[in-house]
Amino acid sequence: MEFNIKSGHPEKQRTACIVIGIYEPRRLSETAKQLDEVSIGHLSSILRRGDLEGKIGQTLLLHNVPGTLSDRILLVGCGRERELGDTQYRKIIAEAIRTLHETGSMEAVCYLTELNVKGRDTAWKIRHAIETAQATLYSFDQLKTKKEATRRPLRKIVLSITSRRELTLAEQASREAQAVSSGVRLAKDLANLPSNICTPSYLAEQAKGLCQLHEKLTCKILTEVQLEKQGFNTLMSVAKGSEEPPRLIILEYRGGKKNENPIVLVGKGVTFDSGGISLKPAMDMDEMKFDMCGAASVLGSFSTLAELQLPLNVVGLIPAVENLPSGKASKPGDVITSLSGQTVEILNTDAEGRLILCDVLTYVERYKPEVVIDIATLTGACVIALGKHAHGLFSNHNPLTNDLLNAGKVSGDRAWELPLWEDYQEQLDSRFADMANVGGKEAGSITAACFLARFTKKYHWAHLDIAGTAWLTAKKKKGATGRPVPLLTQYLIERSHEKSPVSPTAMPDDSNLDELSELD
Ligand code: BES
Ligand code: MN
Ligand code: ZN
Repeated sequence: MEFNIKSGHPEKQRTACIVIGIYEPRRLSETAKQLDEVSIGHLSSILRRGDLEGKIGQTLLLHNVPGTLSDRILLVGCGRERELGDTQYRKIIAEAIRTLHETGSMEAVCYLTELNVKGRDTAWKIRHAIETAQATLYSFDQLKTKKEATRRPLRKIVLSITSRRELTLAEQASREAQAVSSGVRLAKDLANLPSNICTPSYLAEQAKGLCQLHEKLTCKILTEVQLEKQGFNTLMSVAKGSEEPPRLIILEYRGGKKNENPIVLVGKGVTFDSGGISLKPAMDMDEMKFDMCGAASVLGSFSTLAELQLPLNVVGLIPAVENLPSGKASKPGDVITSLSGQTVEILNTDAEGRLILCDVLTYVERYKPEVVIDIATLTGACVIALGKHAHGLFSNHNPLTNDLLNAGKVSGDRAWELPLWEDYQEQLDSRFADMANVGGKEAGSITAACFLARFTKKYHWAHLDIAGTAWLTAKKKKGATGRPVPLLTQYLIERSHEKSPVSPTAMPDDSNLDELSELD
């Protein structure tokens, strides 16, 4: 899909469709007013007749509107003007895109980016229009032999801005949005693949493929023998139940200064989680192919990072394994010495995520990381606590917590902090080893994070539990969300601004400040 940014009068656009907003109740947006004038009241007479109330997401497609040069005009309900916030804006864009795609307009000029969204500037509106459009048009049909082809698909959208002065900022936002969207798409595609295709070795091949596309990106793969030899014992204790050999994928992106310490991302890559000997119930077990969404989000974020050529050093680590029961699988009660030297009693083989992560969290010390962020579909308890809306966030460093919370708010990919207090640690006490791998019924997400915290004492660290947010379960909508690629990449973008504060495209210019004060 192609996106362009332009400013210009709606009546002068020679295009397949112009998209404009209508507020509730039956009130014209600024652009709608302009078109109403040139069409001598065509739009207002339609609204008066009651064809469109302006409720959020309603649409009405008009043809041959007098006084205009475009084939069609799509009216989109925007709800009440005062209530137009982030969520409403994305919903409006999504409805508009879906309608365009289904009604034969292969290109369109969209004026919805000129709507006032509470507290948001033009750059934000451009970014979210593009990301929402790409997400709306995403489909995963690689494995269907009969693809549902749209006869006249939407190919090109021009997003309108009110003044040419905003062009530089809007174009930067557009570049970011497209890079984030391709990262999200990659994460979704990998996660939607079933576990018979997307194995640990498949993930490693995909990582290699990604590195071939970008010069600053390299990768190394540690195989079974190397992992065994180097003492990744808790990781191996999970992998050994499966015929699929494990991999540790190591991605390195060098965009920063040579001696600059890296930001490290660690993604849980369990390509299928049956629970192991502590076998899961059959119901919905297919969804455990999504247990590598943390890994997918790291690969997606690296794709965005490399596309944007951010001036940072970033390392990505992905432990990739399959968790199955077999004659070789770990059993409840087994005690393993982790790479850190601490011993772990495996009381439940289904708490495997923390077992593969803890060795890698020890291994990262060698990078002298500035910060480490792990991303994992770690606990069912997190789905209960926060549902599908927010990632669970845990951290041992307040500034990092704040950075991630803020990146979540800006990107619309939100996280919510949960406590990592010492008080919870005793739940991990073990009779036979330094710790157990489970902490009982209470506060399951917190005790999982507490387990990881025992391996991350030497650096600033945050943990994102994405069990509720990484995929949707509703039948029709079942599939990966690509989250938290938007949050992670926003965090990286903001870190890169810190490093090069003079970048002219990154700084708001005066025209943008004018714009904001007009909104007040
Ligand atoms: N991958 C699961 C967590 C999960 C479950 C994510 C359901 C999304 C939906 C993880 O490996 C797991 O099985 N965790 C156990 C931990 C328990 C044994 C302490 C869980 O949450 O039940
Ligand atoms: Mn599990
Ligand atoms: Zn798991």
